[in-house]
Parts: sequence; structure tokens; C-alpha cells
Amino acid sequence: MTSFSSRLREQVLIWLDENLPKPRIKHVLRVEKLAVELAQHHKLDAEAAAQAGLMHDLAKYFQPERLLQMAQQANLNLDPVEAAHPHLLHAEIGAIVAEEEFGITDPVVLAAIRNHTLGAAHMDGVSCVVFLADSLEPGRGQQSDLNRLRQLCYENLSHAVYETCEYTLIQLLQSRKLIHPRAICTRNWFLQASQALNSTLSA
Ligand SMILES: [Fe+2]
Ligand SMILES: [Fe+2]
Repeated sequence: MTSFSSRLREQVLIWLDENLPKPRIKHVLRVEKLAVELAQHHKLDAEAAAQAGLMHDLAKYFQPERLLQMAQQANLNLDPVEAAHPHLLHAEIGAIVAEEEFGITDPVVLAAIRNHTLGAAHMDGVSCVVFLADSLEPGRGQQSDLNRLRQLCYENLSHAVYETCEYTLIQLLQSRKLIHPRAICTRNWFLQASQALNSTLSA
């Protein structure tokens, strides 16, 4: 781990212990670990990745009413899909909790917490590794398509984000669940980003 203050990390771990069930804390620690590994591999800010990984699910177990109330207080524009499924707001609200409870002000860390579920067009490398680590940490299973995505994370971040979006979207379609428009925007942006990279490489 880099210089992520061990005191701050300890404080977050105590908070998580009081607010998240044990299996979810294990998921959080696996996300932190994978996000750091990917950040180091791609020469990104591993400290920011560690902080965002550890704090990405702070609001995961907030009740829907609390998520909606905090979103209103923060003047967030609610998409109809978020109104129907307030749980999706745990990413946006998690960033607010990180700021309020732990004094996090680094915009890279806060953005990575916000982006961990739906991603975002133009998201930076740290957001990409936290987004990928959340979907692909080892606890998500060992299916061959997940292992292929894990491999891709080390080869090409943009392509990995695009393919992971497709994987998630297919699952949502097959289970007839609502799809947040931002998930489509993320998929479209990273599809174009990975195509642009491929055409540069083959030029
Ligand atoms: Fe989450
Ligand atoms: Fe998560």
C-alpha cells in the first residue's frame, strides 16, 4: 500500500465494521486490493485507487428513504431509474459520506466512488480501475467470461471497461431489469475510446 494514511484506513475500517455486514466488508477489501494492483500496473495513482476502493460502498446499506433524502439535500438530478431504484444512488451518496465522515477532498477519489457502479463517459484511469475492480474482484465468481475480462484489465483499460459494461448490460437485459442511461453512455464512450486506440495502433 502507498502512503494512504494507516490512521485514516483504520478509521474507515472501524466505520465499515459498524455499518456493513462482514461479507460486504470482504468484498470492499478485495475491491481495494484489485484496484491498487490495476493502478500500479497502469502507473496510476495507487493511493487514490486504494482510498476509493476502500470507500466505494460506504452508502451500500443506507435505506432508500435516506438515499433519496441525501440526494435531495445535495441537489442531485434524479434519473427515473434512480427514483425507481434508489439503491443506485449509493455510489453518489458514498462520495458525500467519504467527504463528510473522513474529510476526503481529492476529486479523483470522490469521482471514482461516484463512478463505481454506472461508470461515466470520460472517466479517468482511477475511476476505471475502481469500476473494474468492483465488477471483477475474485468474489464475483470464476466464470470463463469474468476471467477473460480480468485478463483484459491488465492489457487495455478502455477495452476492459467497454467489455465489462457489455457484460453487465447483457445480464440486466436477460434478467429484464431497468438500465440506467448512464450505463449506456459509459459503454458507448469506452467503445469509441477502445476503437480509437485500436485504429491508432493499426495505423
Ligand atoms: Fe457499490
Ligand atoms: Fe462494491
